[in-house]
Amino acid sequence: MSTHAQATVTLDGKTYDFPVVTGSEGERAIDISGLRKRAGIITLDYGYNNTGACNSAVTYLDGERGVLRYRGYPIEELAEKSRFVEVAYLLINGKMPDAREREEWSLLLNRHSMIHEDMRHFFYRFPDHAHPMAILSAMVVSLSAFYPELSQHRQDEGNEAINIAATRLLSKLRTIAAFSYKKSIGEPFVYPRHDLRYCANFLNMMFSSPVSNYEIKPAVVKALNVLLILHADHEQNCSTSAVRLVGSARVNLYAAVAAGICGLWGPLHGGANQMVVEMLEEMRAQRETPRDRLEKVKNSKGAELLYGFGHRVYKSFDPRAKVIKDCCDKVLKALKINDPLLDLAMELEDLALHDDYFLSRSLYPNVDFYSGIVYRAIGIPKEMFTVMFALGRLPGWIAHWKEAREDPRFKLQRPRQVYAGPGLRHLKPQEVSSEYTVTTSVKS
Ligand code: SDX
Repeated sequence: MSTHAQATVTLDGKTYDFPVVTGSEGERAIDISGLRKRAGIITLDYGYNNTGACNSAVTYLDGERGVLRYRGYPIEELAEKSRFVEVAYLLINGKMPDAREREEWSLLLNRHSMIHEDMRHFFYRFPDHAHPMAILSAMVVSLSAFYPELSQHRQDEGNEAINIAATRLLSKLRTIAAFSYKKSIGEPFVYPRHDLRYCANFLNMMFSSPVSNYEIKPAVVKALNVLLILHADHEQNCSTSAVRLVGSARVNLYAAVAAGICGLWGPLHGGANQMVVEMLEEMRAQRETPRDRLEKVKNSKGAELLYGFGHRVYKSFDPRAKVIKDCCDKVLKALKINDPLLDLAMELEDLALHDDYFLSRSLYPNVDFYSGIVYRAIGIPKEMFTVMFALGRLPGWIAHWKEAREDPRFKLQRPRQVYAGPGLRHLKPQEVSSEYTVTTSVKS
C-alpha cells in the first residue's frame, strides 16, 4: 500500500487532512482512521458500498471490468487448469503448492476426512426436513468442541495449528455435507475413501450406497472442480465479512466459519442458487413465459426479484457466470441431459439482457444463475445448492480469517451508528414493574 496523496475534509470552517492509500491494482481509499477523534464526526454508509474494511491480498475483483483473480491468478485460468484443492491451498497459503506440498496437502486432507463418530449421531437428532445449511452450521461449530486445538485467546497461534485446523475443516465439511444429504434421503452414510481425490470422494459419498456403486465420470468431476473453484472466494462479500467480523473477537476458526455459513444461507446471497431453480420450476409448473416473468418483476416495484441477476459489485458482468454457463453446456452434453430449465434460463437471460429495466440498473447474470442447473445435472438436489456454495467458499473464509489474525492493524470490529431514537426520558409510575415500589427519585 502506498500513501502519497491526501484528502481534505472541511467541517464547521475547519479542515482535516487524511491520507489517500493506493492498492497494488491502483484502487484508492481515504484512510479516515481517527476522523471521530479529530473532527468529532463519523461517516455513514448503508451497505458499506463505499467503505473498505481492511487491506487484503487474497482476491482482487474489478466490478466494472468483470475481473476476478485469486492471489493474482485469473479465475478463468484456475478453472481451466487447476483442481479445487490446489486453489484452496493457493488462497490459504498465498502460493500454488509445489509437488511436495501438493502431496502433503493431499495426505492431510485424507487424514482429516472422517468426522468423530460421536458427531455422526448428531445427524439423527435433526428432523428429516431440516435444511442442510442448518445442519452444516451446527456441525461446524460443534467441531470446536471435538477439536479445541485452536485456543480462542492467544493471537500468536502457531501456523502449524492453524494449518491443521484449516485442513481438518476443509476435509470434514465435505464429509458433513455428504452425510447431511444421506440423512435427508434416509440412506446410510458412505464414508470417505483414501484412494479418491477431493471431488470424486465427495461424489462417491453422495451417490454410492451399500447396494450400488456410483460411476465417477471425469466430466462430472471436472464440472465440480470448476464450480468449487469459482465459488472459492469473492473478497469482502456478506458471508466473508461475517467471518472476519466474528473472527475479530478472536473466536476459533470453526465458530467464525459457522457464522459465515449462516450469512451465506440468505436468498440475497448464497441462497440465490436454490431460489433460481425454484423460480424456473415455478415458471414451468405455471406455464409462465420468460416474458411474463420479466413483466411481473418489473411491475412488482422491487417485491419480485429475478434471482441470479444483479450484483453489489459487478455492474457489467460476473466473470464467473460466463465460465459456469460454459461448464453447464459441457456437462449436460457429456451426460446427454436435456434440461428444460436450461432453455428457460437462457431465454430469460436473453430477454433481460435486451430489456432497459435490467440494463439501466446494471443487472446481469451472477454466479448463481446457472450454477443450480449444473448441480441438477450432477444429481444434487436444490436444498443442497447453498451447501455446495459453502463447500466452495470455505477456503476463502479460511484465508480471510487467517489474514485478519495476522494483520497488525486488525482489531475487534465495532462499527458506530447515528442514533435516531427518543431523547432522555424516565419511567412513568404506571410503567414501573408492579414488583417494585418507587423508593428513590431518578436524577436526570
Ligand atoms: C452472491 O457480494 C458478493 O460478492 C456476493 C457473491 C459472492 O460470491 O459472495 O457474488 C454471491 O451473493 C451473488 C448475488 C446472488 N443474489 C441474487 O441473485 C438475488 C437477486 N439479486 C438482488 O437481490 C440484488 O441484485 C443484490 C442483493 C445481489 C445486489 O443488490 P444491490 O447492489 O443492493 O442493488 P439494489 O438492491 O440497490 O438494486 C438496485 C436496483 C433496485 O431497483 P430501483 O430501486 O433502483 O428501482 O435494481 C433492482 C432493485 O430493485 N434489482 C433487481 C434485482 N437486483 C436489484 N430487480 C430485479 N431483480 C433483481 N435480481
